[in-house]
Amino acid sequence: MGRRWGLLIGFLVAVGLLGSGHGEQQPPETAAQRCFCQVSGYLDDCTCDVETIDKFNNYRLFPRLQKLLESDYFRYYKVNLKRPCPFWNDISQCGRRDCAVKPCHSDEVPDGIKSASYKYSEEANNLIEECEQAERLGAVDESLSEETQKAVLQWTKHDDSSDNFCEADDIQSPDAEYVDLLLNPERYTGYKGPDAWKIWNVIYEENCFKPQTIKRPLNPLASGQGKSEENTFYSWLEGLCVEKRAFYRLISGLHASINVHLSARYLLQDTWLEKKWGHNITEFQQRFDGVLTEGEGPRRLKNLYFLYLIELRALSKVVPFFERPDFQLFTGNKDQDAENKMLLLEILHEIKSFPLHFDENSFFAGNKKEANKLKEDFRLHFRNISRIMDCVGCLKCRLWGKLQTQGLGTALKILFSEKLIANMPESGPSYEFHLTRQEIVSLFNAFGRISTSVKELENFRNLLQNIH
Ligand SMILES: *[C@@H]1O[C@H](CO)[C@@H](O)[C@H](O)[C@H]1NC(C)=O
Ligand SMILES: *[C@@H]1O[C@H](CO)[C@@H](O)[C@H](O)[C@H]1NC(C)=O
Repeated sequence: MGRRWGLLIGFLVAVGLLGSGHGEQQPPETAAQRCFCQVSGYLDDCTCDVETIDKFNNYRLFPRLQKLLESDYFRYYKVNLKRPCPFWNDISQCGRRDCAVKPCHSDEVPDGIKSASYKYSEEANNLIEECEQAERLGAVDESLSEETQKAVLQWTKHDDSSDNFCEADDIQSPDAEYVDLLLNPERYTGYKGPDAWKIWNVIYEENCFKPQTIKRPLNPLASGQGKSEENTFYSWLEGLCVEKRAFYRLISGLHASINVHLSARYLLQDTWLEKKWGHNITEFQQRFDGVLTEGEGPRRLKNLYFLYLIELRALSKVVPFFERPDFQLFTGNKDQDAENKMLLLEILHEIKSFPLHFDENSFFAGNKKEANKLKEDFRLHFRNISRIMDCVGCLKCRLWGKLQTQGLGTALKILFSEKLIANMPESGPSYEFHLTRQEIVSLFNAFGRISTSVKELENFRNLLQNIH
């Protein structure tokens, strides 16, 4: 399907991110090798390898990204954590203190952010307010220039765009609240066992294009695991078209990434005197060691790199949108906003300079009608997964689950938006393509999470180095 996909697949096989060839001959020696056997080493005839990604991420991107995410624009995320679960109703709310989310007092959040919940510059806000008022009055404001009218209409209409991969949170609802992400970090909460498994099982079993008859390996709720099941699963996966396979790998990568965070910020000590969070090697091994997970763990880590490259590509593609002179990271603090935009562009240009990008243009290529159907399927499946996040019993996990799926959904929207392909040549910015503040905040925070995972893998690699 498509020459470009051929190239992409060739590249991914070359860097060892697809396919399941090596790493399975004999059990590797050290604990580190048992987790990382599929994501290390120099990679065939490609000038690139996982180490290149690691170096690029850990030293060039990660520190700047962290700084950006600490700014007011990115730390306040508006989210509705009270939406009912649309699929089942026996959600046991996790009562643990570590599951709680503390929303912001309304005076904590800068006014600029509150007034601009889905717009992004002062001028644009004023214009839109004028225009909305005109619309309410049933009048079109003739005094606006034609160009402005057009832009305003595009901005306001775009929120129901069919490009969206996520169910948009109703952030106008009184239940939606601002959360300070820095004060509510993603870390181990103790939310695990059947409730947590159920969420991921429903995601994999009902939403990953998977027939009921084929079991995912190491499904913790199923009994009678075995090698043959695993083989059936992987031969089924290999038989899928690239898009459906990619879908599974993205979800698996997200799952892996979240588990890396929880292992890296595990509640190690919990006394009335102090709480200490840090790396728990045992927890990490239970999830990623090739022997303990029957080969599954290293694959999960490989999928994490796949997810990383997909989001990286989306960010490099959307650069012209952020380069528009009228685009601001608007909080109302002029100096700070300008500084942040500079940092944002610096990060984006760094990302653009990364040599390992792939070309997604032939995703959903081929026969137009089939391709559209496939794309629609892909989108509906993903939207469904974003809705399942409302079923997570632990509010802290729900917050980060929603943020990360919305971020990935935004990345997919960017990758597959035809508006962006057709109307955003390198030469100039386009006003057809639109991202809401909500989408921007989730896009960068979600990427920040995967970037953190890649960085944490280095830490775990070192910690496991001398263990056998
Ligand atoms: C690390 O995680 C394991 C479970 O994987 C747990 O049994 C152990 O108590 C944890 N270690 C610490 C120090 O909390
Ligand atoms: C959406 O998710 C629910 C619950 O897992 C499932 O029953 C339904 O089949 C899914 N629909 C699609 C289109 O994936």
